[in-house]
Amino acid sequence: MRSDPDPADFAVSVPSARPPSEPLSRSRMKEIARAVAANHGLWQPIVRMDPATRWHQRLHSAADYDVWLESWLPGQDTGWHDHAGTSGVLVVARGELEERVSVLNGVLTQVRHIPEGAARRMGRRGVHNLTNVSLAPAVSVHVYSPPLGATRGYKIGAMGLMRSPWNASSQN
Ligand SMILES: [Fe+2]
Repeated sequence: MRSDPDPADFAVSVPSARPPSEPLSRSRMKEIARAVAANHGLWQPIVRMDPATRWHQRLHSAADYDVWLESWLPGQDTGWHDHAGTSGVLVVARGELEERVSVLNGVLTQVRHIPEGAARRMGRRGVHNLTNVSLAPAVSVHVYSPPLGATRGYKIGAMGLMRSPWNASSQN
């Protein structure tokens, strides 16, 4: 019978090469996200699909970064949000996602398709909205450094981006 991965094993598989006080580089975050996404045996026993709300769980927490596993049923999204000064990299481990990025304070929107296996950077000051627009479930792995703290929600109105309370599906 298969058991869930031991967190200690996970920590060994993605060691941090930098002092805890220094954020990871983008390339290091991508390396970790790709390694976790490729390790199906690690996340498949953990991942859940929740029809009520987008599902996410922190897989690993260190002083200088953390790793999140997220699942997306068709139509589920994050809502517009930023990462409150934290940068990150996501890798789509299964399926595909669409990212909408706010440009010029929400006056314009840039749309990017993120296919399975692809990585996307999330900047410290960026505001984006991730959605599964496909007809199949998706799974993604997110690495943040410094670790993800409070995130902030937005909506786009006639005057562009405006701060907005989080809704139930919003995070990461
Ligand atoms: Fe995000």
